[in-house]
Amino acid sequence: NRVLTWQKAGFHFRTVKNYMNDPSGPMYYKGWYHIFYQHNPDAAYWGNITWGHAVSRDLLNWFHLPVAVKPDRWYDTFGVWTGSIMILPDGRVIMLYTGGTVEKYQNINLAEAADPSDPLLVEWVKYDAVNPVLNPPPGIGLTDFRDPNPIWINETDSTWYFVIGSKNDSLQHTGIAMVYTTKNFVNFTLLPHVLHSVDKVGMWECVELYAVATSGPPSTRGLDNFVWPGENVKHVLKASMNDEWHDYYAIGTFDPETMTWTPDDETMDVGIGLRFDWGKFYASRTFYDQVKQRRVQWSYVGEVDDRDADVKKGWASFQALPREVLFDVKTRTNLLTWPIKEVETLRMTSTNFCDITVEKGTTFELIVPDANQIDIEAEFQVNKEELEAAIEADIGYNCSTSGGATNRGQLGPFGLLVLANEDLSEQTATYFYVSRGTDGSLHTHLCQDEMRSSKAHNIVKRVVGGTFAVLDGELLSLRILVDHSIVESFAQGGRTSTTSRVYPTEAIYDAARVFLFNNATGVTVTAKSVKIWQMNSTINQYYDFKSQQA
Ligand code: FRU
Repeated sequence: NRVLTWQKAGFHFRTVKNYMNDPSGPMYYKGWYHIFYQHNPDAAYWGNITWGHAVSRDLLNWFHLPVAVKPDRWYDTFGVWTGSIMILPDGRVIMLYTGGTVEKYQNINLAEAADPSDPLLVEWVKYDAVNPVLNPPPGIGLTDFRDPNPIWINETDSTWYFVIGSKNDSLQHTGIAMVYTTKNFVNFTLLPHVLHSVDKVGMWECVELYAVATSGPPSTRGLDNFVWPGENVKHVLKASMNDEWHDYYAIGTFDPETMTWTPDDETMDVGIGLRFDWGKFYASRTFYDQVKQRRVQWSYVGEVDDRDADVKKGWASFQALPREVLFDVKTRTNLLTWPIKEVETLRMTSTNFCDITVEKGTTFELIVPDANQIDIEAEFQVNKEELEAAIEADIGYNCSTSGGATNRGQLGPFGLLVLANEDLSEQTATYFYVSRGTDGSLHTHLCQDEMRSSKAHNIVKRVVGGTFAVLDGELLSLRILVDHSIVESFAQGGRTSTTSRVYPTEAIYDAARVFLFNNATGVTVTAKSVKIWQMNSTINQYYDFKSQQA
């Protein structure tokens, strides 16, 4: 009877009402998975930012708790922005978050869980006597100093190391990760050199550094926080590029002695190389799940419609499905991100197809009971002779400038159309595009074309995507999770992904359909297998904490 309201709709995490962005402080604590998130409790757009809070037993079904921290002090009037949570060896649970003053100047503040024996960590107390514990150092812009995240602890002397993202415009619009040390979370020392920097990429938000194991089965490749570098351990540096709103990462070597990180391949450095996702996916943050011994990534998926539309619908933004992060032991040059295993427990009936030949310039409807809430796994084989006959086909292909799914080339596009209406005038296309050089080299792209995803107005639509490795003998594999207005796609077991927000107006309810398509002029494609599962909804419950206290 304390449940205020509950909702069973779709399988992505969101607030029933109002706005959300970055995840913060995800963790497993005393039997519960916690997620905190940037949240405007008063409107469906950014502003008045608090830390929203929810807990779950399974990372799928959520109990929404009261706002954990809200802007009610001089140092956070402009918002309680992104930060992190640390469970200290003495049992205290503390939070460092970014605050904004009335002038919008950024600073870092300390808060603590009032009762660490409460598994739900409902109450948080700010350290008024010491806040802000950090202000931007000389040379750093007053609005370029945010998102503290722990990267290391020296266990011999209990020193914690934090990164804070920033930029240095007196250099070359350089993105930087500054490092601070502290023993008590009140007094901090700035190291004279940065952890890492990259020129010309601009402000780094939500910086993270974590270890991944580079050998062994998936079950042993997720590592706890603060693992020493070694023969089988690499460190991933991730930053969210504020200039272009994409999450980039690079794999490299971390040296805790010198507190520096160096990319394995300089041409693939943070901000110029690999992205976690090519679509709408920002401010990602991982945590080590000690129950399942894996690293799990959260990230928010913003809206691409206008503010009025969000106000009308009453809420804005999703969290992408939690994804497991693994080093790719096959390519050894990228990570794999893949929806956590639990998502598969939502699978209900499936419809299976096999060996469907999709001729050049054709579509094939995959008839399923309901195409609004589905999980698709598909494997494609491209006709080998035709592939080999195509020499220097579409070298330099680029998803975003390509013209999308309707623009026909020799070896692509081919793939799936989801949230499509009968005459395909509304559709979101997720497709492969292969290009081939004279030297025989193949480059495969995963693209998602949003251009026909909605007939509504004032929506930003793009073609997004990029290349990924396909090894000898591998079929092209695709997984697409469709949840009404969000399409999350993964190629080759998670070597790349692309997420879109879409707002179909006709391809809804019974009218939504799924198709295979092949728009290549030079190659026949066989869908070796396509499995489409109906997905169950997850449950979000809201508690009335006030009446509980009364
Ligand atoms: C990233 C970000 C963070 C900031 C927060 C404000 O999306 O801009 O850098 O702390 O969102 O909501």
